[in-house]
Amino acid sequence: MFMQQTLSIIKPDATQRQLVGEILARLEQNGFRIVAIKMVQLNQEQAEGFYIEHREKPFFARLIEFMCSAPIVVAVLEKQNAVQDYRTLIGATDPKNAAEGTLRKEFAIDGRQNSLHGSDSIENAAREIAYFFADSEIF
Ligand code: PPS
Repeated sequence: MFMQQTLSIIKPDATQRQLVGEILARLEQNGFRIVAIKMVQLNQEQAEGFYIEHREKPFFARLIEFMCSAPIVVAVLEKQNAVQDYRTLIGATDPKNAAEGTLRKEFAIDGRQNSLHGSDSIENAAREIAYFFADSEIF
C-alpha cells in the first residue's frame, strides 16, 4: 500500500494547555511519521483561506476567531492510509460524540475547542499541506 500524507493541526486550546508534546508523542506512538512541522499564529485572512469550504456554515466566524486566538502547530504526517487513520485516531468533532481512546475524547473541551484538525480526504490533504508547507520543508 502507498504511503499517504495528511495535515494535522494542534489547535489553540491544546497549545494553550501545553499539550503539544503529549499529542505529538501520541501521533508517533500510533505509527504516524512527522515529516514537516511548524508553529504558526494565523491571521484572519489565513484562517479564512484555510477553512474556505466552511464559509457558509453558521459557526464559521467563531471557528476563525478561535483559530486565530493563539499559536497552532501544523504538521505533515505520513503513514499508510494516513488520512482515514488519523481521522479515526482523533475522533468525532464534538468530544461528547468521540469514541473512547480517541484524542478528542481525551483532550478536547467542546465542539469548537476540539484540540485537533485533520484533513478529511486525500484531495483536501494535498491542498492543506501546500497551504502551509513548501515542498522543500517536507522531509
Ligand atoms: S460539517 O458541517 O460537518 O462540515 O462540519 P464539521 O466537519 O463537523 O466541522 C468543520 C470544521 O468546523 C469546526 N466546527 C466548529 N467550530 C466552531 N464552532 C462550532 N460550533 C463548530 N462545529 C464544527 C470543526 O472542528 C471543523 O474544523 P476542523 O479544523 O476541520 O476540525
